Amino acid sequence: MSGEESCLQAICDLKSRHDFLLFVDEAHSFGLHPERTLCTKLGVTDQVDFVMTTLSKSTASIGGVVATSHAFKTFLQVEANAYLFQAAIPPADVAAIIAAMDVIEETPQLLESLWSKVSYMRGKLCDLGLDVGHGTSPIIPVFIRDSDTLLRMGQDMFDQGIFTTSVAYPVVKHSEVRFRFILNESHSYDQIDRTVDVLEKLGRRYGVIAYEDAPHGADVEMR
Ligand SMILES: Cc1ncc(COP(=O)(O)O)c(C=O)c1O
Repeated sequence: MSGEESCLQAICDLKSRHDFLLFVDEAHSFGLHPERTLCTKLGVTDQVDFVMTTLSKSTASIGGVVATSHAFKTFLQVEANAYLFQAAIPPADVAAIIAAMDVIEETPQLLESLWSKVSYMRGKLCDLGLDVGHGTSPIIPVFIRDSDTLLRMGQDMFDQGIFTTSVAYPVVKHSEVRFRFILNESHSYDQIDRTVDVLEKLGRRYGVIAYEDAPHGADVEMR
C-alpha cells in the first residue's frame, strides 16, 4: 500500500525451512524493472506460490493477474468470484494492457527515465521533511496522519490543479491516512516541481511541515 518492497529474499529463505504458502503482491513493482517483476529480479519466482499484480498501475488499465501452479489455477477458477461471474476485463482494456507491456519491453529508456524522476520527486519531498515512508517505487505516499487535514488539504490541492488520490479511513487507519502520488514517465520535471511547490505551501499551512524547517523568507501565501 505504501510502495515498500518486502524482504522477499528473507521470506523465501524462511519458506525453505517452514511450510507455508507465499503470495506476492507486485502491484507496485510489476513492469517497473527490466526483469518485469520483483520476483524475477530477485530470482525467487520458483519459490513463490502466487505472484499477483493489478493491471491498473504500470499498464494503466484495469483488472489483475495471478500467476500460479496448475493446481492452484483450477482452484482459483472455481473459487474466485471475480472469475466466476461476468466481471471479466473488456477486450479493449486487454488490448491496452498488451500494448503497454510492448511499450515497456521495447523502450527500456522509459524505465530509466521514470526511475530518475522518482528519485528526484522522492528526494524533494524528503528534503521538505514530508513523510514518504520507506519505499522507493513510483507510487509515492505522503503521510498526513490526520483525516480532517487530508480531506481539506486534498481539496486545496485539487483547487490548485494537482490531482492525487487520498487514501483515507477505513482503507487505512486514521493514523496512516496519506496522499498517494503515482508518478509516470510522461510527467515532466516542471510538473513535479509544481506539485512539490503546492505540497510545500499547503504542508506549511496545515502544519504538516514544521515552520521551523522553512527556508528564510518562505512564502506560505497561496497563489
Ligand atoms: C499493493 C496493492 N495491491 C493491490 C491493489 C489493487 O489494485 P486495483 O485498485 O487496481 O484493484 C492496490 C491498489 O492500489 C495496491 O496498492
